[in-house]
Amino acid sequence: MPERVLEVKNLSKTFTVDGTKIEAVKNISFSLDKGEILGIAGESGSGKSTLSRLCMRLIRPDSGEIFIEGEMFEKSSEKRLRPKIQMVFQNPADSFNPSYSVGSGLKEAARSLGVEKAAAQQRIAELLKTAGLPQSVLSRRPKELSGGQLQRLAIVRALLCSPRVLIADEAVSSLDVSVSANIINLLSDLRDELGIAVLFISHDLDVIAHISDRIAVMYKGEIIETGPPEKILVSPEKEYTKRLCGARL
Ligand SMILES: Nc1ncnc2c1ncn2[C@@H]1O[C@H](COP(=O)(O)OP(=O)(O)OP(=O)(O)O)[C@@H](O)[C@H]1O
Ligand SMILES: [Mg+2]
Repeated sequence: MPERVLEVKNLSKTFTVDGTKIEAVKNISFSLDKGEILGIAGESGSGKSTLSRLCMRLIRPDSGEIFIEGEMFEKSSEKRLRPKIQMVFQNPADSFNPSYSVGSGLKEAARSLGVEKAAAQQRIAELLKTAGLPQSVLSRRPKELSGGQLQRLAIVRALLCSPRVLIADEAVSSLDVSVSANIINLLSDLRDELGIAVLFISHDLDVIAHISDRIAVMYKGEIIETGPPEKILVSPEKEYTKRLCGARL
């Protein structure tokens, strides 16, 4: 039996802007198993980031439920379950305080996640190795590092508390093609080595197809089609998915 690490049931979120309602996420349900990479595809504004922010409890849903390892992710369980789900964002430069060395940033992040000091030091050293970074990066300021190095560090930081789920929202979109490919390989290795499950969000269907075990296509706040990459790319069912696939040729 696969181990279910994330389950989302009937999640909805509406924003009201100048009196107009925007249904950003409409009744979405999906699940993610240990070691699985689920890609979320969809055009700009389809609700991908709203979905990821809901999963992280950075914003509250209007309705619906989120379960992490079978436990409901809600106010009363938030502190305990928070370390189990972590996120990497689009712009790595924004992820670190420019005034401090990245080593200080990582230690502070570990402290706020409740990772004990000695354990944090050891974990940082291990994760840097896994991420293919020299220990010497710790003494550097963010501006002295490349976008690719910073995104690796953002991933290291997200993994400090040994999460079961990693959400990568456009995590490679700001990087050059070759750097982006390296980061994707790193995420894939982390899945293999740590059994981490990844929710991989991108507007680039080729990138998603390369890394994902399954793809969910979002359109106007809904998941309209789900399937393995070969199915979605070669024989999609929905007209919208056909157009999305066609647009990348
Ligand atoms: N905080 C907010 N307040 C009001 N409207 C919002 C807010 N966040 C998102 N929206 C709206 O919700 C819809 C979905 O936005 P979202 O950012 O989730 O899309 P996305 O698929 O991530 O797009 P992109 O590919 O451009 O990142 C959009 O119409 C957006 O304008
Ligand atoms: Mg987005």
